[in-house]
Amino acid sequence: MMKKPLILVTGGAGYIGSHTVVALQQAGFEAVIVDNLSNSTVEVLSGIARITGIRPHFAQVDCCDRPALAGVFDAWPGIVAAIHFAASKSVGESVHQPLKYYHNNLQSLINMLDEMLHRGIAHFVFSSSCTVYGQPDRLPVTEDAPVKPAISPYGNTKQICEEIIRDTAAAGFALQSILLRYFNPIGAHPSAEIGELPVGVPQNLVPFITQTAAGIRKELSVFGNDYATPDGSCIRDYINVVDLARAHVSAVNYLLEGKNTAPVEAFNIGTGRGLSVLELIALFRQATGAALPFKIVGRRAGDIEQVWADPRKANSALGWQATETIEDTLRSAWKWEKRIRGIND
Ligand code: NAD
Ligand code: WQD
Repeated sequence: MMKKPLILVTGGAGYIGSHTVVALQQAGFEAVIVDNLSNSTVEVLSGIARITGIRPHFAQVDCCDRPALAGVFDAWPGIVAAIHFAASKSVGESVHQPLKYYHNNLQSLINMLDEMLHRGIAHFVFSSSCTVYGQPDRLPVTEDAPVKPAISPYGNTKQICEEIIRDTAAAGFALQSILLRYFNPIGAHPSAEIGELPVGVPQNLVPFITQTAAGIRKELSVFGNDYATPDGSCIRDYINVVDLARAHVSAVNYLLEGKNTAPVEAFNIGTGRGLSVLELIALFRQATGAALPFKIVGRRAGDIEQVWADPRKANSALGWQATETIEDTLRSAWKWEKRIRGIND
C-alpha cells in the first residue's frame, strides 16, 4: 500500500483545524496534530475518528516551546507540509492582552518556520484573515487590495505574520507558502461530531445566535442599523467551515504539485456573497424554525461596515469553491449547538 503523505497541523484540535484534519484524512492524507489545548479539548480527536474512522496522531505541545516542537518533527520524520492554525484569536481579548497575542501568534510562527527550514520542509499554509483588508475601498475585495492599518493587536499579528512569511521567502529560504485569508467561518460538520466551542460569552455572531436560540442568552444584540448598507446592518461573507477546510486540502495539493507561481501567494477564502446581520437572522429563523429574539443596539467599536470576498483567484488557481448553502450551514451550526447542550428536537 502507498504511504499516505503526512501533514503537520498546528492548532488541529481547534475549530477550523479539526474540520481540516477530517478533510485531509478524507482526501488520503495522514495528519499529525500539534496543539497545546489552550482553546480546545482532546475529545475532538474522538469526534474526528467517529467521522473518518481514523484517529489522528496527536502531540500536546506548545508551538512556542521550540525544543518540544523540534521533538514533534523528530518523532514524525516524514512530514511533507504544515498547516499552521495555532494562534490566539479573540479580537477583544487582544486589545486587553496585546503581549499575549504578539507572543503566541508571532513566536509560534517563527518556531514553525525555523524548524521547517532547518529540516528542508518547504510547504507551508498559513491561517490569515480578511481582517488584513480593514474596510476595503472596492468590493468584492481582491487579494491585491492594500493591507490597511490593523484595528486590533490580533489583526496586527496576522499582518505581521504575513510579512514574516514574505520576508523569509524573499531572503531566499526554500519556503513555498500560501496565505489563506478566511472571511467569516461559521457552521459545523454536518454530523455534529465536531464544531466550534466558544469560551464564555461568544463575540462572534453565529455562536451568539445559536446560544440565544438555545436559551443560554436572553437576546441577540445587533450592533448597529445605521450603516450605509441596504438594511443598515453590517455585511460579511460567511463561509462554511467544511468548505473552508477543503480549501486547505486544495492549498496543500497545489503546493505539493508545484503549481504555485510565486514562493508566497495569498488567496481569499469566501463565498463571494455578502449577507447583512439582519439577513442572517432571517435566514437562521427560516432554515431552523428556531425562535431568535433580538434587539438593535449601538455600533460595536472597531467593526468594519461591509466586506465580502472576490474568491475567483482561489476558484481558478486552487480549483476550490464554496458549495454549501447558507441554509445548510446555519442548520449545521444549530445542530451542533443542540448536540452540545443536549437539546432534543
Ligand atoms: P481555535 O482557537 O478554535 O483553534 C486554534 C487552536 O490552536 C486551538 O485548539 C488552540 O488550543 C491551539 N493553540 C493556540 N496557541 C497554540 C500554541 N502556541 N501551540 C499549540 N497550539 C496552540 O481557532 P480557529 O477559529 O480554529 O482559528 C484557527 C486559525 O484561523 C487561527 O490562526 C485564527 O487566527 C485563524 N482565523 C480564524 C477565524 C475565525 O473567525 N475563526 C477567521 C480568520 C482566521
Ligand atoms: C459579524 C457581524 C458584528 C455579534 C471577527 C474578527 C475577524 C475574523 C472573524 C479572525 C458584525 C455583528 C456580532 C453580536 C452582532 N476573525 N454582530 N451581534 O467582526 O466580522 O470578524 O471574526 O481572523 O478578524 O474581527 O465577526 O462574528 O464578530 O461579527 O450584531 O452579538 O455580526 O457587528 O457586523 P467579524 P463577528
